[in-house]
Amino acid sequence: MCLSAKARMRLLLLMVVVVVVTESVLPPPERSYNILIVLTVSGTSHRNVFIPVAEGLADRGHKVYVLSSLANFTTDRNITQLNTGINVMEDVKINTFDILEDNFDEFNYLMTLLPKLIDDVYASPIFMELYNKRKMFDLIIIDHMFNELNYPFTHEIPFITIATHGMDPLQSAAVFGNVLNPAYTPSVFFSLSPPKGLYQRFTNTLIHLLVSFTYNYWTVIPVIQKKVSAKFPDAPPLLEMARNQSLTLINSHFSLVMPYPLLPSQVEVGALHCRPGQPLPQDISSWIEGAGEAGIVYFSLGSITKGALMPEKYLKLFLQAFKRLDQRVLWKFESDLPGVPDNILIRPWMPQQDILSHPGVKVFMSHGGLLGTQEALYHAKPILALPIHGDQPRNAQNIVDKGLGLSLNWKELSVDRIVHTIQEIINNPRYKRRMQEVSSALRDQPQSPRERAVFWTEYVIRHQGAPQLRCPAVELSWVEFLMLDVLALILLAAVIALFALRRIITFIWGRIVKQTQSKHKYD
Ligand SMILES: *[C@@H]1O[C@H](CO)[C@@H](O)[C@H](O)[C@H]1NC(C)=O
Ligand SMILES: *[C@@H]1O[C@H](CO)[C@@H](O)[C@H](O)[C@H]1NC(C)=O
Ligand SMILES: *[C@@H]1O[C@H](CO)[C@@H](O)[C@H](O)[C@H]1NC(C)=O
Repeated sequence: MCLSAKARMRLLLLMVVVVVVTESVLPPPERSYNILIVLTVSGTSHRNVFIPVAEGLADRGHKVYVLSSLANFTTDRNITQLNTGINVMEDVKINTFDILEDNFDEFNYLMTLLPKLIDDVYASPIFMELYNKRKMFDLIIIDHMFNELNYPFTHEIPFITIATHGMDPLQSAAVFGNVLNPAYTPSVFFSLSPPKGLYQRFTNTLIHLLVSFTYNYWTVIPVIQKKVSAKFPDAPPLLEMARNQSLTLINSHFSLVMPYPLLPSQVEVGALHCRPGQPLPQDISSWIEGAGEAGIVYFSLGSITKGALMPEKYLKLFLQAFKRLDQRVLWKFESDLPGVPDNILIRPWMPQQDILSHPGVKVFMSHGGLLGTQEALYHAKPILALPIHGDQPRNAQNIVDKGLGLSLNWKELSVDRIVHTIQEIINNPRYKRRMQEVSSALRDQPQSPRERAVFWTEYVIRHQGAPQLRCPAVELSWVEFLMLDVLALILLAAVIALFALRRIITFIWGRIVKQTQSKHKYD
């Protein structure tokens, strides 16, 4: 075959483009790094955000160590797993349905648990052993929220955080110096939609300030600071250590929520745990396919909310509602349920992403957890949200605001409501259409979020903590940041200038008057 030089060039270019698009764009790392992940306070949802980062780094040949509260953090044998033996979620005996019934104050409960939890973790021999050896690591990765007790690990070592809950304006402002304007930035945990109108902007601003004040100076941080200072007297204050982080990987993406002005040290890696579906177990796939054209409803309330604790009244409602559907229902439920209609299949565990990727799934009934919501968005499956606590109400509101599905309030549940809402989501094509729009925007990225996370993690190590990422705003006091001193100076200069001008005018005016007076005298 004889090709002209131009044609050969084109072919070569095409090959390069294909390679770039399908293969990893990252050059091989300069050497194998030692990386330590410290995640001593974590449920499965936080872990699921860390796993892709840990595995991505291990796949690059780095030595990754994980110190967590979970016995089986990952199945990846290239990751060294160390366990504190303090199973946080076992201590935290929250029945999420109690929160629904208003007879449980989750925040106060967690706050009473916190001091003992910190003592337990600090008493763990593996924790102290690793702490003493921490200088052998090139980088430490910690969770940005509820894991401040691990900050002493990062003293004098480059480290990054992962913001598992997505954008946190408090972290952005206090740690990175990127103050997000409350005129349009919703406050963490309360909403994902920008405030509308004067009243909402007013309350949103108040919440921004109150959350920041109570978290840092009143409730969470002072408790942890006391314990940290007692155990690690040499460690700088928590906020100072937090500010020394090189960057944060944020579990959000502008296509999912809204665009924020970000610093180079705030890297969006949202939906990084999402992946294409893999073949389903035989029984589940034939169950879904057996549903035919009508398809199925997939129902799961996540890993923390246990179906067995669901109050009888809700169980009855769901069973009656599902019986009336044309669809089959695949229900993640942890115990036996007597009297289940024929169109319901119950399993204590489900390969959720593989199910969501199946075209037979018409609706995902979910508690509105962040990761499950991201999975539904990735696989373009409309959601019926039943939010319970934490960030779930705001995620549910975001789903409704963006037209990605609907939300139901537990207290207002009825058989008719459940049936009609499911039917509306299935029969009205707008939910599926919006889902597909957002999903295709989410997937349209120059590199995968996982690859981006790996790149920036290695970048920080390559550049010894990458001080070039640090924004000077973080060194400023709030008076300097808001330029109150500069404004005061401008005001002072203006007052002085006005005063001087007045003197000059009075002086000149006086001369003119005097002159005309003396003129009159000699006339
Ligand atoms: C472990 O790492 C090696 C080399 O980096 C790789 O060949 C192997 O597939 C990895 N094993 C697993 C289970 O990921
Ligand atoms: C962890 O995995 C091992 C082997 O896969 C298993 O035997 C053990 O029961 C698991 N532990 C927990 C707490 O799940
Ligand atoms: C701050 O971070 C840099 C590099 O990331 C590190 O060299 C330095 O020791 C850290 N300072 C403190 C007080 O931890």
